[in-house]
Amino acid sequence: MCGIFAYMNYRVPRTRKEIFETLIKGLQRLEYRGYDSAGVAIDGHNNEVKERYIQLVKKRGNVKALDEELYKQDSMDLKVEFETHFGIAHTRWATHGVPNAVNSHPQRSDKGNEFVVIHNGIITNYKDLRKFLESKGYEFESETDTETIAKLIKYVFDNRETEDITFSTLVERVIQQLEGAFALVFKSIHYPGEAVATRRGSPLLIGVRSKYKLSTEQIPILYRTRNFENVKNICKTRMKRLDSSTCLHAVGDKAVEFFFASDASAIIEHTNRVIFLEDDDIAAVADGKLSIHRVKRSASDDPSRAIQTLQMELQQIMKGNFSAFMQKEIFEQPESVFNTMRGRVNFETNTVLLGGLKDHLKEIRRCRRLIVIGCGTSYHAAVATRQVLEELTELPVMVELASDFLDRNTPVFRDDVCFFISQSGETADTLLALRYCKDRRALTVGVTNTVGSSISRETDCGVHINAGPEIGVASTKAYTSQFISLVMFGLMMSEDRISLQNRRREIICGLRSLPGLIKEVLSLDEKIHDLALELYTQRSLLVMGRGYNYATCLEGALKIKEITYMHSEGILAGELKHGPLALIDKQMPVIMVIMKDPCFAKCQNALQQVTARQGRPIILCSRDDTESSKFAYKTIELPHTVDCLQGILSVIPLQLLSFHLAVLRGYDVDFPRNLAKSVTVE
Ligand code: F6R
Repeated sequence: MCGIFAYMNYRVPRTRKEIFETLIKGLQRLEYRGYDSAGVAIDGHNNEVKERYIQLVKKRGNVKALDEELYKQDSMDLKVEFETHFGIAHTRWATHGVPNAVNSHPQRSDKGNEFVVIHNGIITNYKDLRKFLESKGYEFESETDTETIAKLIKYVFDNRETEDITFSTLVERVIQQLEGAFALVFKSIHYPGEAVATRRGSPLLIGVRSKYKLSTEQIPILYRTRNFENVKNICKTRMKRLDSSTCLHAVGDKAVEFFFASDASAIIEHTNRVIFLEDDDIAAVADGKLSIHRVKRSASDDPSRAIQTLQMELQQIMKGNFSAFMQKEIFEQPESVFNTMRGRVNFETNTVLLGGLKDHLKEIRRCRRLIVIGCGTSYHAAVATRQVLEELTELPVMVELASDFLDRNTPVFRDDVCFFISQSGETADTLLALRYCKDRRALTVGVTNTVGSSISRETDCGVHINAGPEIGVASTKAYTSQFISLVMFGLMMSEDRISLQNRRREIICGLRSLPGLIKEVLSLDEKIHDLALELYTQRSLLVMGRGYNYATCLEGALKIKEITYMHSEGILAGELKHGPLALIDKQMPVIMVIMKDPCFAKCQNALQQVTARQGRPIILCSRDDTESSKFAYKTIELPHTVDCLQGILSVIPLQLLSFHLAVLRGYDVDFPRNLAKSVTVE
């Protein structure tokens, strides 16, 4: 749950200051992945002895603190120019060991910094490795799992059979010993100007920038044997074949820059030409040439990695006029939901086509049941759409929290269809649930916002929600786009059901007017800000509703707790008298979501129960609802839409409320404490 960034300039002269700036900017883009400490490793230069060494600068705190620290170090001559240089950088979200400079990355092999490494993920067998290395005399200084990797590569190097062992061979041997998840980038004084990067379970991509034409658009993979002994012999011959036909490089004077990052947001301002690494790929850059090796064949068995052109614009990931990414993303929802539907919903013919699913539709229609799996907000999107999916697909639909689904060893059969909902496409629990279902031969469907993510690659088919990059840790626009993607799936499934045609038309008509209605809800921002002014000193905030709007309550309460640190609970109104009613009194603020839908009358009962206990409900209701407003302490009136889509409109006031509460309470909305955007550990 960290951010990795590394930068190599090959025959592109850069001053140390420029290198710092590139590394720091890369880290800032990734800060949403973790931000309790940060560090870099760059080449030092000792003028007296005229030799290069690796300089580590690490700091507890955010990237800004690291940036300030870099300029404080008096050994840094900012004007020194490097024709070729490789710098690695890391922003950390602690999993092993407290956040401090020693535990932050890069981690090193020894006091001489012979090998340094940055890591995103978690090494599950690190204790065994550490014990082994300690028995061989290696001394550890941190509490991290990552330090074992730095020590292990030195161990392999110290025990090498031949002097000319390559950097990538060392890394290959190291990862054969690792269990868990990782994206790693290595730097070493023994291999100046060289870089090696690899991944398993954590994302990693490489950006390439050159003003010269690249030698290839496809990088062929070199396969090696798994056997250690054979590696010794075979890699010699294979490495000979590592000529320009199997490497990526720039022609001409071969000036080229490489950017390694956990995700594209850190690369896009430098280049839109990227290569997504697959699990167990080992990418090496030497003499400005990039090659990719594998010990075993990839799941996809693709014998090459293509250089892809990203369509993402930098401005898409910048804050614009908003004070926080979260706020910007809330206000982007009229466009993001439109983009989710664009080219898929035909409002003239009342049809929906999801290109990524069309070839599997027959199989899905024949299935025994649908299982929709996710974590946090993505799980709430599944809860929000369960009823309409049951109605439109006429199939049993289970919604599952990925962690609990795995804990229960839930029975899964080959005629099940399993959906994996994930904004990042990298959430470890969801990814493990996906692999669990794949092992049981179920058809797997990804619903993600990240092209090239692990979930989108490992599923049999899927839907890209097209919400655009979501940077704020608290998910907002991804939720509404996931919601719509699942509704679109239901509509596609029911296309030939005569009895459902009226309902389908009603829903499609509702989808068409959604962007306009979302704008109307967003115009309530000031009113919601005023409400936040009344509530921001409270300790707790309950959110209650039922039916289609139960998910709104869960999601609203999650937003409130994660960025305002207030206690908040989403309560199913039907459960009120089975316990939560005891919480109600004059002081406890309660938000009730009461919409004109089949649960309206039942919600009125809950409202009576709350007011009878002197509760003072703040009611989110339909504009024409005179009945609920009679009993309300305050109302937020929302435009009306078709029942199964109402949750898209009712969640937005709660997104806005949580945002204003967090700002008023003085918290950093985009970087809530203890949380990270992409949860790549179990
Ligand atoms: C809450 C939030 C998290 C994520 C959860 C799953 O605002 O963002 O609850 O929804 O960590 O993440 P993804 O969707 O990336 O799998």
